[in-house]
Parts: sequence; C-alpha cells; structure tokens
Amino acid sequence: MQGSALTLVLAFSAATLALDNGLMRTPPMGWLAWERFRCDIDCENDPQNCISEALFTDMADRLAEDGWRELGYVYVNIDDCWSSKERDNQGRLQADPKRFPHGIPHLARYIHDRGLKLGIYGDMGTHTCGGYPGTTLDKVQMDAQTFADWEIDMLKLDGCYSNSSYQEQGYPMMSKALNATGRPIGYSCSWPAYQGGLPPKVNYTLLGQICNLWRNYGDIQDSWDSVLGIADWFFDNQDVLQPVAGPGQWNDPDMLLIGDFGLSLDQSRTQMALWAIMAAPLFMSNDLRTISSAARAILQNKAAIAINQDPLGVQGRRLFKEKSGIEVYLRPLSKGASALVFFSRRTDMPNRYMTSLKTLGYTPGVYEVFDVFSEKRFPELKDSTEFVVSVNPSGVVMWYIYPAADWWKGAETSRFSEKLKGPKIHRYANEVDAPLVL
Ligand code: GLA
Repeated sequence: MQGSALTLVLAFSAATLALDNGLMRTPPMGWLAWERFRCDIDCENDPQNCISEALFTDMADRLAEDGWRELGYVYVNIDDCWSSKERDNQGRLQADPKRFPHGIPHLARYIHDRGLKLGIYGDMGTHTCGGYPGTTLDKVQMDAQTFADWEIDMLKLDGCYSNSSYQEQGYPMMSKALNATGRPIGYSCSWPAYQGGLPPKVNYTLLGQICNLWRNYGDIQDSWDSVLGIADWFFDNQDVLQPVAGPGQWNDPDMLLIGDFGLSLDQSRTQMALWAIMAAPLFMSNDLRTISSAARAILQNKAAIAINQDPLGVQGRRLFKEKSGIEVYLRPLSKGASALVFFSRRTDMPNRYMTSLKTLGYTPGVYEVFDVFSEKRFPELKDSTEFVVSVNPSGVVMWYIYPAADWWKGAETSRFSEKLKGPKIHRYANEVDAPLVL
C-alpha cells in the first residue's frame, strides 16, 4: 500500500513538474522510416518498400546483425501511415490489418528480442499529415495507454491538422499521459516546427521540461540543398537553440540521408559531422538491406558517433564563416576534449585553410588530434602551431581534439619543446593517404 502510494506521489510530481523519464541522456540513435519510405502503402506492387511489418522486421534484423546496434543505433521507428483509417470499436488506434498482420505488440516483441526499441508515430490533431487518425485532446490518455500496452519505447507526435492553442494544450497533456502510464517512452514533439521554431512563439524552456527531443524546423528531403538549408537555419539561430539542448532534451534537425540518393560521399560526411556538432538525434532513413559500404562506413564511424554521443551533452556552435567559403564549428566535449569541423562551401576545388588552435580560441598547450574521417592521429599539435587543412567541395575535415596526455609531465623536458619550437606549418589533406608534414 505504502509502496504504491509513494509511486503515485512520484508519478504525480514527475507528471506535473517535468518529463522525468530518465531517457535519452545522449541523443537517441536508430532508424526512422519516413524520409526513405514515406507513405508507400502499396504492398501488392511494392512489397519490399511499403510501410508494413516486414519493412520493420527487416530493418531490425539489419540493425541487430550488421553492427549497428552495438554502436548505439537501437530505435526502429515507425512513421506515418501505419494505422488503419478507422479506430477500433472501443475508440483505440489500430494498425492496418493487412500490412501489420500480427499487430504492433508482436512487432514490439520481435524488436525487443533483438535488443532494440520500437518507436511509433502519432499526431496532435484530427489527422496525421498523411490523413490517418490523429490524437484529439479527448484521445490523449487512451492513445498514451495504448502505446504503453503495446510496449512502445518512443513516440513522435506530429502537429498536422491542429492549431496553436490546440497544440499548447495537447503536447504537455501527452507528456503527462505518457508519464502516467509508468512506461518510459521517449517523447519527440514536432510542436516547435509548427510554430516557426523560434521564441516568442516557441517556449524552449517548457519544451525541455515536457519532451525529450523536438523538431524545430521543416522536413528534410533527399538533397544537398535540403541539408544545407536545415544546417544553416540551425546555426543561424544557435543563440536560441544551443543553450536549450542537454541530456534528455535535444533539438532535432531531422533524419540522416546518408545511404540514400541525394548526397555525395563528401556531403554525407558533412551531414554526419554537422549533426554530431549539433548533438542531433541520429535517425537514419535509408535502406539498410542495400546500403553501400561507403555510406555504412560514414554512419558507423566510431569517432563521429562518440562526438555525437558525448556525455556532457553540450550542443556545438558555428565559430565563424570565412569569405573564402570555409566555416568552422566547435563542440566542447567531456574531459577537456572538443570537436572541430572545417566545412567548405566552395564548389570548384579543395579549399586550403590555414589557421592554428590558438586562433580558434584554444588555451595554450599541446593537443592530440584525431582526424575523424581519415582516421589519422596527429600526436602533438601546439596551440600556436599553424596548420593547413584541405577541405573538399561541400565536404568537411572533422577533428577530435584533446589535451596531450603527457603535456604536464613532459612540458619542460620532452620532445615537445624540441619539435614544437616556433610556429611550423602542418599540412595535410583529407585524402586518406595524405601525410601530415611535420
Ligand atoms: C510531417 C513530418 C514528417 C513526417 C510526415 C508524415 O511532414 O514533419 O517528418 O512524419 O509528416 O506524414
């Protein structure tokens, strides 16, 4: 009795004060159907690609068997067009019986058995964007309970077919309803994207209290223009957006396109790098059954993932844009480390950029540098040493930087003083075999 009273009090305070589900202390990672598979419901003619049970079990198999799960890609997320056009006779949402013949609880078990988590999609309004049943205010509790009963792990709540006052009531209400089920369910809110993404219309303090992540801006499409437009919007508004992110609460610039049709390999690295700097959720929307090994290598890059998943949870910023087309981005990481990205907007040839860590604001000292995509290590880079990076058109050079381990004990005597006397030019390119010239 006492125990359950206590649980009730805790549940109540969590529900009234904040979304206190303990989830997503680092940005969530996984796979989301929408960008690649959209609302393809034509299972007769397109069985491989239609929104169906088989699509999600296929992706779960790939995540579990091809090394994704161990890297953190654990969510398998259903998007729009999964449900029947009608609720059941008790008013509950139900999956389309033809395309999900065993129902969602069965799919959840399949996914949990493989050490993965299942996400689902709903809409705070009369209909989803694709025209399926939405969650009206009177259905919030019922739908939250249905998702909990089905053992769902994450909900993306879209905002089509509603208005601002409806959303203002509905998004916090769903947060409370999810908490009240007692099942930890990650909560992704599309609310800010429907309100222009910026204050005063958007209250990020409130969002941080009720949602684990939120879509701030428009939908990503399979093109470089789309990636660039989204990245620009997020970094142009970084003074607003950067401070609100942190463990359990993330800005969401939308899915990763890597492995699809629209991005070159350099552009794919750029998306991975900028999403890591932004502490963005990493939801791939691609076909894991046929993905190229080059795209897979980018998505499975351990250093890029470690940067994205850094436990400090501080979102990075754009430091500056140079007239030459170079932009520099920085994200502070735990243990005094940091990530730097040099991005080039040039479209003609590799962009050679000379700078030093000191110029970029680093404190005096010797640093070790790991180049995330060439996987080369440069053990000793003094803050004042000038170096040149060569950045491919629409590509990046991304560095993981940390204070050299033996700097303190070796500063006076060691090889550093010999090697790093005075500024030297370190040259290297992001081609795999380019040497660092010391
Ligand atoms: C909106 C969302 C997308 C996707 C579609 C589904 O456009 O922003 O991410 O969920 O709806 O219809």
